[in-house]
Amino acid sequence: MRRFKVGILGATGMVGQKFITLLQDHPWFDVEILAASKNSAGKTFKEAVKNRWSMDKIIPKHLENKVIMDATNDAQKIAAQVDFVFCALSMPKESLKKLEENYAKMECPVISNNSANRKELDVPMIIPEINAEHMEVIPFQKRRLNTKKGFIAVKSNCSIQCYVPALHPLFENDIEKILVCTYQAISGAGKNFDSWPEMKDNIIPFISGEEEKSETEPLKIWGKIENGKIISNKNIDITSQCLRVPVTNGHTAAVFAKFRNKVTPMEAIDRIKNFKGNPKSLGLPSSPSKFIHYFEEPERPQIKLDRNLENGMAISVGRMRQDTQYDIKFVCMSHNTVRGAAGGAILLAEMLCREKYIF
Ligand SMILES: NC(=O)c1ccc[n+]([C@@H]2O[C@H](COP(=O)([O-])OP(=O)(O)OC[C@H]3O[C@@H](n4cnc5c(N)ncnc54)[C@H](OP(=O)(O)O)[C@@H]3O)[C@@H](O)[C@H]2O)c1
Repeated sequence: MRRFKVGILGATGMVGQKFITLLQDHPWFDVEILAASKNSAGKTFKEAVKNRWSMDKIIPKHLENKVIMDATNDAQKIAAQVDFVFCALSMPKESLKKLEENYAKMECPVISNNSANRKELDVPMIIPEINAEHMEVIPFQKRRLNTKKGFIAVKSNCSIQCYVPALHPLFENDIEKILVCTYQAISGAGKNFDSWPEMKDNIIPFISGEEEKSETEPLKIWGKIENGKIISNKNIDITSQCLRVPVTNGHTAAVFAKFRNKVTPMEAIDRIKNFKGNPKSLGLPSSPSKFIHYFEEPERPQIKLDRNLENGMAISVGRMRQDTQYDIKFVCMSHNTVRGAAGGAILLAEMLCREKYIF
């Protein structure tokens, strides 16, 4: 595999910082451009993140003095210097949607963490182990954008990252309805306890827009391609409540599921344990050796013990049991800034490079 030059849009933010640490020593990708808002543009990276570097690892030496570019005003220069960009900008949705399209139209593929383009029917929203085949809409999107190389592919919201994979091995039992409560870390809002001290010893029962995303995005992931468009699954009902909890990293979900073809807890555990994922997702530099880990211990998965499993790229599941109103209930967890954001986007980019959608 040849090496690819990449840009990180939103490099100073929580997800951007995670991209920087995960891409250090990546076998295929070299970070060429760091970009953020006009407030950071012109500063060195070290200067721009002076009081807000939130990673456990230190800033890679070769990026400390890299001068940050303006993700909007320098778009043309950025697109000309890289093979593709990762996007993790916090901007108003409409401007971000246009900005991502603008990069694609300048023949620079965009792998995005943002929700701005997730509802476009020809923009694939991919969890590589689950719906790799949705890459097939990319040629149709390119036709709409009139591009040869440029396109947008997106990651799903971090809230659904643990429970969609946990339920996917049971998909053939025809899922009828899902009830899910998520318990989401503060890094999901781009914060830590220094920047959000009100979260210490607290729970906030509202995350703007999160419940709508948690209920609709799985249906796109479980959707089918028809005439170059992804048509969302219409057979599954999902209801959710999303809570912000005083945890640095790691989103947990408590899930109840009912199936048209009944499934027992034992069958569910067996199917989860044996799930390998779509072959196209396997053997990539960031692929976990095992995607879903099932824990028999009743007190697992735990944030502190399990969020970094397989470098934060695995999903942890436990407490599978019979429910009185649904068929099964269980708890699952994933690292929100790794598998749920930067790591998931890197895995997706690796698959798109190996499958020659990025070239
Ligand atoms: N955190 C997670 O777990 C997670 C998971 C999945 C998806 N996401 C999504 O990823 C995106 C970034 O999240 P985050 O948590 O990293 O946010 P964040 O920490 O607030 O970082 C936001 C980034 O966007 C830049 N930015 C803000 N306003 C801008 C503007 N007007 N023009 C250009 N750049 C601008 C910031 O640059 P400056 O430093 O210059 O202001 C910074 O680099 C969001 O859309 C979020 O929903 C986050």
